[in-house]
Amino acid sequence: MTNFTFKNPTKIIFGKNTISSISAEIPSGKRILVTFGGGSVKSNGVYDQVISALKGFTYFEFWGIEANPDISTLRKAISLGKGKNCDFVLAVGGGSVIDGSKLIASGILYDGDAWDIVMKRDWTANKSLPLASVLTLPATGSEMNAGAVISYREKKEKFAFYSQYPVFSVLDPETTFTLPAHQVACGLADTFIHVMEQYLTTTGQSPLMDRWAEGILQTVIEIAPQIKHNQQNYDAMASFMLSATMALNGFVSMGVSQDWATHMIGHELTALHGLTHGHTLTIVLPGTMWIMREEKGDKILQYGKRIWNIEGENREETIRKIIDRTEEFFRSLGLKTKLSENGAGIETINEIERRFADRKVKFGENRSVDSSVARKILEQVL
Ligand code: NZQ
Ligand code: ZN
Repeated sequence: MTNFTFKNPTKIIFGKNTISSISAEIPSGKRILVTFGGGSVKSNGVYDQVISALKGFTYFEFWGIEANPDISTLRKAISLGKGKNCDFVLAVGGGSVIDGSKLIASGILYDGDAWDIVMKRDWTANKSLPLASVLTLPATGSEMNAGAVISYREKKEKFAFYSQYPVFSVLDPETTFTLPAHQVACGLADTFIHVMEQYLTTTGQSPLMDRWAEGILQTVIEIAPQIKHNQQNYDAMASFMLSATMALNGFVSMGVSQDWATHMIGHELTALHGLTHGHTLTIVLPGTMWIMREEKGDKILQYGKRIWNIEGENREETIRKIIDRTEEFFRSLGLKTKLSENGAGIETINEIERRFADRKVKFGENRSVDSSVARKILEQVL
């Protein structure tokens, strides 16, 4: 296990009817910028609960943060927040609203263009207003991490940056009852693959991190069919919500190496084809597992044995079976696992290879996924 420092300052308020608690959490006198997506919160009652909790506060609403939040929308929100002298940001929605709001919370304090913050062109841009969230979609972990991913549609680009942790996040599983089935599937896949990015590296780094990660993987596998059967199953949705948060809040990555190559390639698929984030990962991960099997083989075998009960004499054959079983799970969620099933082909692979070569990327726990390895991964899942 390597040395590490751990601090996660986000307060989680979890359970039924907890949205009203935001009134006690936001310091009085704050001028709040409340940010929303496209309107799902209006039809499921979340908006009404938030507004009733904000009685007596001074707040301004910003609507329209889209899935894969776009810089042009966020610039408008920043301008509103500056104009109204906001000093607190409350994000109400899924990962996109929360991620976008992280940029808004920094952008309000920054004189230059907010895209500089994403591209880390100016480190003075690190300051940020306090931000909190009311989560409506379990997937990204953004409610309890400092990451954010911002798109620049005009340039077909999408980049992650590190911002700040929310001061608090409210997680009411009942808010997820209205999620479209595709978003549920993508959220389950995102949760699963967040764990894989932090787990599927080398064996023997930390038995505790391994067991913790495997616990989340097993939970997702167990609840997925229950949720498919009945999305209003409170306990299953609560487990989903908590699993998604725990998968990317730092608790499974203490002192162990991490990969993230699958995510980096997936972001390009979203940037180029608009594919939903979780769906890009179910396409890329099987390719990453196969192409990186020399480096990851021992851990793939551990994963196969402990999660899927798959063992065998022949190493390559067993690894193949484990990858096939993983793909089968993704397909059982209702997601595809091939590029060609999602409108992407050889031109996409050429473009991603070109971009990665330009950026001289080196992804993965051993920094061995460069542009040509990324190409092999994508060719594997064509
Ligand atoms: O905009 P509205 O109308 O709210 O509709 C949204 C959106 O269309 C809808 N939705 C959300 N909650 C709902 C609901 N519909 C009905 N009922 C509800 N309760 O779902 C759609 C998708 O929402 P979005 O926020 O885009 O999904 P998600 O939470 O998966 O976020 C995806 C974004 O997060 C980034 C992704 O790259 C992508 O940009 N990620 C952020 C990470 C982080 N901050 O750490 C890590 C992840 O790996 C990921 O990259
Ligand atoms: Zn993800």
